[in-house]
Amino acid sequence: IHVDWDAVTAEKGGFEHFMLKEIHEQPKAYRDTMRGRIDESGKKVVLPELKLTKEQIKGISKIQIIACGTAYHAGLVGRQAIESLVRIPVETDVASEYRYRSPIVTPDTLVIVVSQSGETADTLAALREAQSHGAHVLAITNVVGSSIARDADDVIATLAGPEIAVASTKAYTSQLIAFYLLSLYLAEVRGTQTQDEVARIIAAMQALPEQLENMLAKPDAIKAYAEQISKHEHLFFIGRGLDYAVVQEGSLKLKEISYIHSEAYAAGELKHGTLALIEEGIPVIALATQDAVLEKTVSNIKEVSARGADIMAITHEEHVVSLLKSVNQAFAIPKTLPLLTPALSVVPLQLLSYYASLARGNDVDKPRNLAKSVTVE
Ligand code: AGP
Repeated sequence: IHVDWDAVTAEKGGFEHFMLKEIHEQPKAYRDTMRGRIDESGKKVVLPELKLTKEQIKGISKIQIIACGTAYHAGLVGRQAIESLVRIPVETDVASEYRYRSPIVTPDTLVIVVSQSGETADTLAALREAQSHGAHVLAITNVVGSSIARDADDVIATLAGPEIAVASTKAYTSQLIAFYLLSLYLAEVRGTQTQDEVARIIAAMQALPEQLENMLAKPDAIKAYAEQISKHEHLFFIGRGLDYAVVQEGSLKLKEISYIHSEAYAAGELKHGTLALIEEGIPVIALATQDAVLEKTVSNIKEVSARGADIMAITHEEHVVSLLKSVNQAFAIPKTLPLLTPALSVVPLQLLSYYASLARGNDVDKPRNLAKSVTVE
């Protein structure tokens, strides 16, 4: 597998910015990242590139996922995918902290480093630290000739194509696809899921690109909402479970390119302090896609609503009417399996950041103070 990385020849392909082009390339990135990794029966994930043997997989006692920024946020979803499907305990660390907490790493620890560029200094240093303790390091990266890809013991390439905009979009969602594939593969080797369950998840994954295309065809409501929030200096994101993982990414994206201060909170944590900041008219974006915790999220939505917040909810069509009793506006996203929902639910948040940045007249593709690849610790 080879990925060319030539920023100079990459075109905006009719889009105003690389970021918007890359958002629209996500359905293709999903298809490319899945291609050749699902066998013809549709019931099995195959990862022929892995050197990790089945015996090694059976002996894994824990997994550590290490990355920075957006790649770290993909790891938060990866953790839930692995823990729920494979039942191996998973720790997630930001790479710049990992080495300084004396992590417990043994030869039966699988370390997964995630990096779009494959050049992030902290992630590379964490990889070397883990290897020095005898761990097997698997890299999920978009650049196969990168330092991280070279040094890792194993590589799963995300086939998102070159990502030029500083704000990562298609690399993040392709990392999610890579985590889903890896989780299904590990589950099969360790016998933790039935073949029917694996087939059901694979079928839902194969439907994602088209579902995403349908969403991308209708950006107007999000654009209008972005223009509304572009006039604010502070806002909050809330969510539970996988929705919490996704709003952390949404909040980072918004800060990075719109320069609007936002905080992402686990919805249940609000009343432990943050609720004091909620006042009349402050925008709160609630991600409410996880049916298992929906009722609890709704009660957290009511807490902020009672304090006068201006709430926008992202949910599924079937919940829009009831949610509109507590929120000011609601957007529906297509339905998939709860575990796969981040691959769809993050997209309105990417568009929101893009249009908010545009409305504020910022340089969308090259936000102030930031570099695409962070090669210093
Ligand atoms: C993403 O929008 C950011 N620009 C940033 O957080 C990035 O994800 C981080 O620096 C990690 O980069 P990497 O994936 O190339 O290692």
